[in-house]
Amino acid sequence: MQVYHTVAALRDCLNAERAQGRSVAFVPTMGNLHEGHLQLVRLARQHCDVVVVSIFVNPLQFGLNEDWEQYPRTTEDDIKKLESEACDYLFHPDEKEIYPNGMADQARVVVPTMTDIHCGASRPGHFEGVTTVVTKLFNIVQPDKAIFGIKDFQQLAVIRRMVEDLCVPVDIIGAEIARDHDGLALSSRNSFLAPDERLKVNHLYEILCWCRDQISGQNGQAGRRDFAAIEASATQQIAELGFRSDYLSVCNAKTLEPAAHDDKDIVILGAMYTSGARLIDNVTLTLK
Ligand code: PAJ
Repeated sequence: MQVYHTVAALRDCLNAERAQGRSVAFVPTMGNLHEGHLQLVRLARQHCDVVVVSIFVNPLQFGLNEDWEQYPRTTEDDIKKLESEACDYLFHPDEKEIYPNGMADQARVVVPTMTDIHCGASRPGHFEGVTTVVTKLFNIVQPDKAIFGIKDFQQLAVIRRMVEDLCVPVDIIGAEIARDHDGLALSSRNSFLAPDERLKVNHLYEILCWCRDQISGQNGQAGRRDFAAIEASATQQIAELGFRSDYLSVCNAKTLEPAAHDDKDIVILGAMYTSGARLIDNVTLTLK
């Protein structure tokens, strides 16, 4: 695997790859790679001839009181993991390379409305930071396909919307959520969990699955459509575990607006605070 730190050097080598007729798949990350990220890299390998991964802990998507400084940086380990996954190129720029004119006056990419809700409501400016850096990375790498995890369901929906609205010539591929043995979605922020919290945070996933089963109906029973009551009950279950929920919402899987009774593609999005980290997860279902 070759590691590049500058836009110019990476572009040169990817231009040479494209000139040979090779297709390029891209996996943007913030590093501290775990099995979830590596699954994306494997999917990238299945789709294209050349696999590019980026590691950049993007300051533009972190709020002032968020964990940018504490965010785990484990580049040496990450490189070993990527090498064992047969990644071809790692792009590992520093902040000056990505924001040479500083962040304050950086041109931005904004996807309105759907970024104001859920995670966007509790993390103002977060998605603008994501769409801006992803656009920059797309322009640097110019991939045919880019892989994003369904774990960050709203991020994936926002990027799909950005690509559609701005005619960005990149195919967006969603990758399944990688989970720990007890169901907890893998996340770099799981390392911030206190040991006693770690023992029970997996219940977030169980509660989301409970919501899904209520809606789809089980054992011959009709599915429920009183989504607000399901949300209230799930929020109560989270509180009983000793956590504060940020939001728990039954949504239309495309718009992320509250689900209508006749919606077919549904996502149940959940976020909760622990003492060390804010965790997010989701489950989807398709109704007949
Ligand atoms: P990061 O949190 O490092 O995640 C990189 C990619 O890995 C994202 O597409 C995310 O959805 C995916 N991912 C993380 N955990 C996963 C899991 N358990 N299962 C499946 N996929 C998982 O998301 C970001 O970085 C940044 O916002 C980024 C897109 C790189 C822009 O800075």
